[in-house]
Amino acid sequence: MSGISLLLVLPVLPGPPLPPSAGPARPAASPISEQQDSGLRTLRLDECDLSKARQGWGRPRANRSVGGRPLRIAGKEYEHGFGTHTDGVLHFRLDGRVERFEALVGVDSEVGSRGSVAFRVLADGKERFLSRPLRGGERPFPLRIDLRGAKTLILQVLGGEDGIDYDHADWVEAVFRFRGKPPETVTPPRPKPYILTPPPRPEPAIVGARIFGVRPGSPVLYQIAATGRRPMRFSADNLPEGLRLDPTSGRLTGVLKRPGRHVIDLRAVNDLGAAHAKLSLVVGDRIALTPPMGWNSWNCWALAVDDGKIRRAARAMVSSGLIRHGWQYINIDDGWMVKRNSKDPTLGGPTRDEEGRILTNKRFPDMKALTDFIHGLGLKAGIYTSPGPWTCAGYEGAWKHEKQDAQTFAEWGFDFLKYDWCGYGSLVKNPTLAQLQAPYRLMKACLDAQPRDIVFSLCQYGMGKVWEWGARVGGNCWRTTGDIRDSWSSMSGIGFRQDVCAPHAGPGRWNDPDMLVVGKVGWGPKLHPSNLNPDEQYTHISLWCLLAAPLLIGCDLEDLDPFTLNLLTNDEVLAIDQDPLGRAARRVVKKRLTEIWARPLADGSRAVGLFNRDEIPLEIRLEFSSLGLRGPRRLRDLWRQKDLDLHEQSYAAVVPPHGVLLLRLSRP
Ligand code: GAL
Repeated sequence: MSGISLLLVLPVLPGPPLPPSAGPARPAASPISEQQDSGLRTLRLDECDLSKARQGWGRPRANRSVGGRPLRIAGKEYEHGFGTHTDGVLHFRLDGRVERFEALVGVDSEVGSRGSVAFRVLADGKERFLSRPLRGGERPFPLRIDLRGAKTLILQVLGGEDGIDYDHADWVEAVFRFRGKPPETVTPPRPKPYILTPPPRPEPAIVGARIFGVRPGSPVLYQIAATGRRPMRFSADNLPEGLRLDPTSGRLTGVLKRPGRHVIDLRAVNDLGAAHAKLSLVVGDRIALTPPMGWNSWNCWALAVDDGKIRRAARAMVSSGLIRHGWQYINIDDGWMVKRNSKDPTLGGPTRDEEGRILTNKRFPDMKALTDFIHGLGLKAGIYTSPGPWTCAGYEGAWKHEKQDAQTFAEWGFDFLKYDWCGYGSLVKNPTLAQLQAPYRLMKACLDAQPRDIVFSLCQYGMGKVWEWGARVGGNCWRTTGDIRDSWSSMSGIGFRQDVCAPHAGPGRWNDPDMLVVGKVGWGPKLHPSNLNPDEQYTHISLWCLLAAPLLIGCDLEDLDPFTLNLLTNDEVLAIDQDPLGRAARRVVKKRLTEIWARPLADGSRAVGLFNRDEIPLEIRLEFSSLGLRGPRRLRDLWRQKDLDLHEQSYAAVVPPHGVLLLRLSRP
C-alpha cells in the first residue's frame, strides 16, 4: 500500500511563500449559502473524469485513497475527494466559468506519520497556491481559490524533501463553484515533435569516442564514427604494429600485445574535403573508457526477442546511419536461454548439454553466427544473464556455471555482459554488502580470464549503494535504479536523483540510470511511441549525456521517425556523454522546480543543462558564479548547434515545461 516506487525524488520545496490569493481565510468546506452564491452550481472534484490525472505511483481514485481505502486525513474520514500521489497533475478547462475552487488537502492517514506532500494550484499558468510540505498525521489544510476569469487550472501534488515514498495525497471536500457548463478535466496538449538540430554537413567530420581502451592480447574492434557524404576513405598515421585500418569501412582491427598508449591520427576524406582527429588507444587493464553506446532489446521486445529481431536491429543501426555517430553495441537482454518448465516448444527443453554448457532456446539457433553477423557490420554484441539459478523472467541463469558461461560467451564472441541480480535474490535473503558483491566479483574474475574484452554491466537496481563499490568489484557500469518506463515521472524521477552517484563515475566506471525510452518502445511484441513528449525526450537525452551514462537505445531501430533519429544523432550532444574526461554532471542549482546541472569537459569548457521540471514555461537564469566561473563566457546551444555569443556573468532563457536548454560554456 505504501508508495513502494523507489524511482522518484522531487525537489526540495523551499518554505512556500503563500501568494495573497491563496490565504485560506476560512475552511473551504464550509457550506456556502444560496444567497451568497446565487446562481452558482457545484461540481465535486470526485465527479470529474480523474483518469486524466498523472501521478508518480498508483492510480487516481475517486472517494478513495491511492491505497484504495476510504479517504482519511488526521484520522477523520471524508466521503468525497480525490486520492492521488506525489508527482501528480490534473489539468482542467474552465473557460472562465468557474468562480472558485475549495478543498481540504493533506496526507492520507493510511501512511501514518510518513509521507510529505505539497499541494499546488495553477490558474492560467500562474501559481495561485502552494502549501508548505504537509506530513502524514497533520490536520488538513483548507484552501479556497478565486478563479474568476481563469481559462485553465492545474492541480498538482509535489513531494517534500524525502522522496516520494508514502506520499499518499488527498484532496477532500473539493468542489468547483461555477456558472453554465461544468469545468472538465483534460489531457494537456502534447507538444508536436520539433527538430532542433540541423542535419550533418556533407563534408567529412570524425565524431564519436576519442579514447578507447583495450587489454593486451584482446582483439581490437574500433569503428571510426564519421558523418559526411559517402563514399569516404579512411586512413591513419601512427598506427601501432598489429593494427590495420580498412580504408573503406573505417574499421580498426588487430591485436596489441604490450601495454601502452598510442595516439593515432585519423583521417576521413570524401569528394568535398578531409577531416582529421586524434584517437588515444590505451592498451592496459581498463576498458569502456567512455560510456558504452548502443541498443538493447529489452525496452522494445522484452521476451518477444529472437535472432531475427537482433539481426534487424543491427542492420538498422547501420542503415539508419546511427553507426556513423558512434552507436555500436547490439545487446540481447533476457529471453535467449531456455525457459524452465516452459511448454512453448521454442522456449522449453534442456537448459544445458551433458557437459553443463548453456543452451540457447530455439529462437536463437546459432549464437556464433549471430555475433559474426553483428561484428561483420562493424558493431559489437552484448548478452545478458543472471548470477542466480534463473533470470527475472525464469530463464536459465549462470549459477554454479559462472566460469563455463563466461567462457561460452567469449567463444560465441560477445563484447558486453549485463549481469542481472534477479534470481540470485532467491539464494540470499536480506543480503549483506559482501553478499551483494560476491556474485559480481566471481563473474568479473571469470570474464578477466577470457581472451577478449567483455564490458561488465552490473544490474542490481542500485542495492547497497552500488555506485560506491561497483568499480571495486570490476563493473564497468552499474544500474543505479529500478527499471525505467516511458513516463515523465519515471524518467525524471530517475534522472534527477543521480547527483549522489555522480562523483563515483569516471573512465571505465559509469553510473547507469537505465536504458533510453525514446522512439517506439513497448516491452513486448506490441510497441507504442514513447509516452515522453518531445521536450521530455530532449530532457532525457540531455540529462543522460550530462550524467555520462551508458546510452542504450531501447526502441525499434527499424521504425525510427525523423524526430527520434535527430535526437540520437546530435554529435555535439553525444560528445558530452563521450567526453574523455569522464566526469559526470552534478546538480549545481535547485530552485523549486528548476535545476541546473553541469560537468567539466576535457577541453576546459563546461556542459550545462538548464532544466524546467514544472508544468509551465519558466525563465531560468544561469549565474556563471554558480559554476565557480569568473569572467565572460562564450555560450553554445548544443541542441540547435548555435552560438549564443558572449555573456558577461549570466544567461537567462525561457525553458518549456519539462524541457531543457543544453549549453556548452567556454572561455572567449
Ligand atoms: C530486470 C532488469 C531489466 C531487464 C529485465 C529482464 O531485472 O532490470 O533491465 O533486463 O530484468 O528480465
